[in-house]
Amino acid sequence: MSPFQLTRTLAPDAAGADLRADVLHGLSRSPKTLPPKWFYDARGSELFEEITRLPEYYPTRAEREILIARAPEIAAATGARTLVELGSGSSEKTRFLIDALLPGLDGYVPVDVSESALTGAAESLLADRPELRVHALVADFTRGLALPGMPGPRLVAFLGGTIGNLLPAERRTFLRSVRAMLTPGDALLLGTDLVKDEETLVAAYDDAAGVTAAFNKNVLSVIDRELGADADPGDFDHVAVWDRDREWIEMRLRARHALTVKIPELDLVVPFAAGEEVRTEVSAKFRQAGVRDELAEAGLDLSRWWTDDEGRFALSLATAR
Ligand code: SAH
Ligand code: AVI
Repeated sequence: MSPFQLTRTLAPDAAGADLRADVLHGLSRSPKTLPPKWFYDARGSELFEEITRLPEYYPTRAEREILIARAPEIAAATGARTLVELGSGSSEKTRFLIDALLPGLDGYVPVDVSESALTGAAESLLADRPELRVHALVADFTRGLALPGMPGPRLVAFLGGTIGNLLPAERRTFLRSVRAMLTPGDALLLGTDLVKDEETLVAAYDDAAGVTAAFNKNVLSVIDRELGADADPGDFDHVAVWDRDREWIEMRLRARHALTVKIPELDLVVPFAAGEEVRTEVSAKFRQAGVRDELAEAGLDLSRWWTDDEGRFALSLATAR
């Protein structure tokens, strides 16, 4: 069997229909919102990788530190034969886990909306590990996943703190759908960024080089290209604010002056007042008790909790009940 297979589980036009529905809904309401999954076209995926190398953006380095230290323990505790990774992106940190799970690993199933990220990741993993089998899925992990037949035990990894990009109600539904992919004894490995001082958090989402600003504005380029819109990224400012009550970072795009955005594919003209904002992402930060409770509510028991030396980021291992 070929070491690399790619399955598109989205119907050919599903991504387009979803984008139209999200933009119509999000830009017709007040306050305006757009879901963060639309950042990740090929350019957005590249910009995210650039973010992970920024001095201000600590989560990737912190999670890598934990994975390097704990991958052998995770492999021993789970004995996983199938590793599914949701929102896998470049799979750059996952290789530590894969290497610890080989040779007992039957297959690696990366799942992402970004096809370019999936093919790039598979290429670089397979270059060094010809014995690995990779079955990539182009899919939306919030839409219920049809996973290929895969031997257990299964380990689902959801790294990077991407769970924080879901709103609390979305997280509940999502964690239940993850539990439904598992049988009792299977495991979830979950990365969560932790609550910390505001200055560190805001700097991570508003870097000096402006890469996060470009990433945020990339959603406008996606809408322009896919829906024929005329949004000018130069008309918007990147904004990152810490909401201390809800313990999340919000990224927004703020109109520099009064303007309209025409979206011919939706037959829509969207007015912006000067200073009006669109929320493009929340990035929730967590505490151990909250993670434990959210997992438990979904039928997942927290068994291990590891942080990096500086206590900035956590990896949780949870077992399906
Ligand atoms: N796990 C990697 C990448 C994190 S970036 C890391 O830790 O570095 C978030 C990834 O999730 C991106 O690759 C993006 O394309 C993907 N993604 C975002 N929303 C998604 C969704 N709804 N369904 C599937 N993938 C999604
Ligand atoms: C993918 N996700 C966990 C990133 C985060 O930190 O919330 C996305 C990101 N947004 C701005 N910078 C990085």
